[in-house]
This record gives sequence, structure tokens and C-alpha cells, in this order.
Amino acid sequence: MYNPQLTSDGKLKHLLSIEGLPKKVLLQILDKAESFVSVSDRDVKKVPLLHGKTVCNIFFENSTRTRTTFEIAAKRLSADVINLNVNTSSQSKGEAIIDTVNNLIAMQADMFVVRHSQSGAAHLIAKHVPDNISVINAGDGRHSHPTQGLLDVFTIRKYKPDMHNLRVALVGDILHSRVARSEIHALTTLGVPEIRVIAPKTLLPNEVEKLGVHVYHDMKEGLKDVDVVMMLRLQNERMSGAMLPSTQEFFKTYGLTPEKLALAKPDAIVMHPGPMNRGVEIDSRVADSDQAVILPQVTYGIAVRMAVMSMLAGGEA
Ligand code: CP
Repeated sequence: MYNPQLTSDGKLKHLLSIEGLPKKVLLQILDKAESFVSVSDRDVKKVPLLHGKTVCNIFFENSTRTRTTFEIAAKRLSADVINLNVNTSSQSKGEAIIDTVNNLIAMQADMFVVRHSQSGAAHLIAKHVPDNISVINAGDGRHSHPTQGLLDVFTIRKYKPDMHNLRVALVGDILHSRVARSEIHALTTLGVPEIRVIAPKTLLPNEVEKLGVHVYHDMKEGLKDVDVVMMLRLQNERMSGAMLPSTQEFFKTYGLTPEKLALAKPDAIVMHPGPMNRGVEIDSRVADSDQAVILPQVTYGIAVRMAVMSMLAGGEA
């Protein structure tokens, strides 16, 4: 079957979503990322793999972690990096996305890293660009955030190497979360046997069970004996109307406090993709605890993004 992310011989061509990527390719990305972790620990944090290539970061939506770590990753691979500031670009004068992209193609860019509030935006650009250009989805609407999903499973594998013997809980606003979708696809593809989602009914997609997850509405039941707790932000910018009584009420029921975390395994790790809202989905005593691996997620994100970009540039699977 045709897969826009792969070449006819199965090599990575674009990275648009985790869904549809074979396990072999996911493992190749994670293994390659392992080899890049040490680059960031060197005095000279550079390898020449993307020397002479131009990477364009096109972010139509705000970002701290993703945009910055893509820029760092590209620079550590020796690429030239252009950050298009959409607020000061001709987008603000009404230029269509495809016309903006056409201009960047005319400037001979080699790779586009795209974030957009509309689901499908990166797919649209990938369909449009010539064969020599690769597109990476850096988050599109509520659909997909593949490099976040990859860095999350990379982090899990670092702390809990036996992926075939894990219980992972995702907590909070699953409905609007592209991270949750990407992570569920990554975890199921990698063979994690038990994935739980814990949320009020209003923050769960219809038929979420079809993704292969177990649904809980109660933190006490859902967190029992899990190895990994992934907290998610309330995505207020994607909510239409009131979906919750109040953030205080949400924190009382679903906020991760030390008391609730005590229900998980004693060595459970706590993750959050960011941006993190303390006192809404997570208590500071948990966010700053030894069980939290929230900042290592960011650090590993650089190695994972280096792996993806180097594979796209080299045409490797
Ligand atoms: N996790 C994540 O996508 O964070 P940013 O919005 O800061 O990029």
C-alpha cells in the first residue's frame, strides 16, 4: 500500500505521523538517536552529517521546546537553519501556505519542519514539495506530533528498557492531544502490553478503545501499579465551550499529587510533554521530584530529532 512517509524501497522520506510507520523504522530511529546522545555531551557538539543542507523551521503555531530543539538538532548536524517567523512573514499579509512554501522551495531549502494548528497541514506540504525535499510534522492540530511521540518512547526505553512488560497511563486531555495519539501509536507498535487513558468522559475521543487502550475515569484505579505516568495539558485553545466545571475541580480529581502518584509502582516515572501547568494537571511536588523525567524528555528530544533529520537526509530507513 502507498505510504507517503516511505520511499518505494521502504526508506524514510517524510515524517508525518507515527501511524503507518513500521516497527522496524521506529526502532531504527530510536537506535540512531542513541548514537546521537553523546554528541551533546562533547565539547564540540557537532557532526557533519547535514553539512551544506538548509533546514527551514516553519511554525504557524507557538512553540518553545519543539522549535528550539529542532534548531539545536539541525545545527548539531551542521545544517544551515532558517526560522521563518510567521508573525512577521508575508503570511500576515494573507499569503497562502503553499505560496510561502513555494518561495522557500525557490530558495533551495532541503527540509521543512512544520507546525500548524490545522490537522493535515504537513501532509499537504509533503504532497506539494519536489522529491528532493523532506517534510517533518512538528505538530498539526489535534492529529499528530510524531517527534514528540518518538522522544517520549525513547525516554521510556531509557528508564524502562523492557518495553514488553510495561503499564503506561496517559492522564488528562486526551481528546485534544496530538501527543497522546502519537504516543499511543508508538507504544502499541513497539509492543507495550498495557496502555491506559485516564480522563473525564468529556476529554476522551469517541471510541478511543479502538486505539487499543484501556479507559479509566478514576485516578485511583487507573494509576494502580503503572510504570509510567504521562500527564497532559488541558488544551484550552482547542476546546469549544466549557468541557470542565473548573481547573480547580480538574486538579482535585485528575491533578497528579504525591498522594495519587503513590498508587503507581514505587519506581514509576512521571512524564509531561510541556508546556506544563502547575496546579492544573500536576503538583509542583511531583513535577520537581526525582520521579519526574520531564527535562530529560527535552534533552533526548534533540538526539531523536537529529536521528530523524539525518535519516531523511541520507535516505535511510
Ligand atoms: N511538547 C511541545 O510540543 O512543546 P512546545 O509546544 O513548546 O513545542
